[in-house]
Amino acid sequence: MKALLCKNYGNSQNLVFQNIEDPQISDKQVLISVKACGVNFPDNLMIQGKYQFKPSFPFAPGGEVSGIIIAIGKKVTHFSIGARVLALCGWGGFAEQVAVDENRVFHIPDQIDMITAAGTLYNYGTSYYALKQKAAIKPGETILIIGAAGGVGLAAVELAKEMGAIVIACASSDEKLKICKTKGADFIINYKKVNLKEQIREITKNSGVDIVYDPVGGEYAEAALRTMAWNGRYLIIGFASGQIPQLPFNLPLLKGCSIIGIFWGSFAEKEPQENLKNMGELVQWLISGKIKPHIFKIYPLENAADALQDLQDQKVIGKAIIKLGNWIEPKLIDTSNKLKSDIDQEEILLPVVKFKNKFELKKNIGRELGKTNWLTISQERINQFAGATLDFQWIHIDPEKAKTFLPGGNTIAHGYLTMSLVSYFVYQLISIENVNSLLNYGIDKARFISPVPVESIIRMSASISNVEELPNGSIKLFLHCIIEIKGQEKPAFVAEIISMVF
Ligand SMILES: NC(=O)c1ccc[n+]([C@@H]2O[C@H](COP(=O)([O-])OP(=O)(O)OC[C@H]3O[C@@H](n4cnc5c(N)ncnc54)[C@H](OP(=O)(O)O)[C@@H]3O)[C@@H](O)[C@H]2O)c1
Repeated sequence: MKALLCKNYGNSQNLVFQNIEDPQISDKQVLISVKACGVNFPDNLMIQGKYQFKPSFPFAPGGEVSGIIIAIGKKVTHFSIGARVLALCGWGGFAEQVAVDENRVFHIPDQIDMITAAGTLYNYGTSYYALKQKAAIKPGETILIIGAAGGVGLAAVELAKEMGAIVIACASSDEKLKICKTKGADFIINYKKVNLKEQIREITKNSGVDIVYDPVGGEYAEAALRTMAWNGRYLIIGFASGQIPQLPFNLPLLKGCSIIGIFWGSFAEKEPQENLKNMGELVQWLISGKIKPHIFKIYPLENAADALQDLQDQKVIGKAIIKLGNWIEPKLIDTSNKLKSDIDQEEILLPVVKFKNKFELKKNIGRELGKTNWLTISQERINQFAGATLDFQWIHIDPEKAKTFLPGGNTIAHGYLTMSLVSYFVYQLISIENVNSLLNYGIDKARFISPVPVESIIRMSASISNVEELPNGSIKLFLHCIIEIKGQEKPAFVAEIISMVF
């Protein structure tokens, strides 16, 4: 089999790509034909000899794989040949096959693809344990996430938002922070450009943050600790900067805050039942589309060293994945259209922006809600609209006449058809929990800018333009909406939609 091997300690460029013997399995192991392997921070430490585990040479890095079982040991009880599985193998994943102990292997549900399966458990497992078991995060609490666009950081952004927190994401570039926003960050701080402590104070109006999630260490730790609220929890996740902070002991005393160490690997070992429960919950969230790893880039095995280098150079946002071979994912059981990873940036996980309750809307006036998926305007759709509205004008429904008399030779959708799709699109962009209904009932300032010929592909972007609280406790929500046509500069339709949130 082919593998990328570490033969002596050094950086990623020391790794050697070569053919080696297939691995042998022991009685309690399974042999996995690797389809994808997640790239994680410890992989770099391991090849440099700086990690707590030191496999003997030669070894392939890569601790998180997905694939198919091709052989099983005599005492394996839970798996059979052909099973789709993921495994936390520690190392050995940058290879076509890996032998793994049965107790480190999990079945992949039919709805989850191989790339997602190789890119989820390590980051989300760590962050979920940190937020749920160690921080006991509560809805409405404020969390500051350092290194928020990194592997564990971005998972923490998504999970904290899902768990109802107000998320302040910090990272070293605007590009990284943009992705944090799409994953639900309420506020962003580029700590290379502004003073971290001052920004936190400004955002929290001097009341401080309840939780700090710190996978970076180094220079940001003291600034973050100094901005903690009473009863705060500072989560020590890791030291990606390479510096272990030395902090004054008087600070936790004065702040009445706790400093909590997180070691997900030990948690999984010492509290396996709790960890399995967490895994089960994460898998359900993945299936339902509540979480979705952001895939930065997919590298072939031959270029896996570049993935390690990109991670070390702080280029990776979310997760880098190694794909082994040119396989194509067989059709998955698709229950929600929300399960495939972010490989195609055009295909958006919906709904993009989630609010825990209607009152959060007020704090988000001006917020962009992102873009919907594309939708094709077929002749069939136009005809159905004509039938529903009794508007049978030939420019909409008669392709033959359109060929002769219309400039582009195509029929044109009713303007009101485009407008009617605003409601359909809105539900893709926004989700508000704990409300009885979100009712789109009015359209204001509508402008039909470009005609929409048949077979046009359109999508909508929106932002919150205003929020009014009504005396009966409901909310009037104003969304500025733009419907664009693929490949065209001028939009098809622009309007303000008015919705009632009860
Ligand atoms: N405690 C646990 O159970 C546990 C589990 C998993 C991971 N970890 C640890 O958590 C840390 C982060 O892991 P990860 O998978 O999120 O890594 P990652 O994807 O590489 O992200 C690390 C982030 O740290 C920041 N950073 C600052 N200085 C850096 C440097 N010199 N080199 C690399 N990154 C630097 C970068 O963000 P900016 O560029 O935005 O600053 C980067 O995005 C690691 O130390 C890892 O060992 C701990």
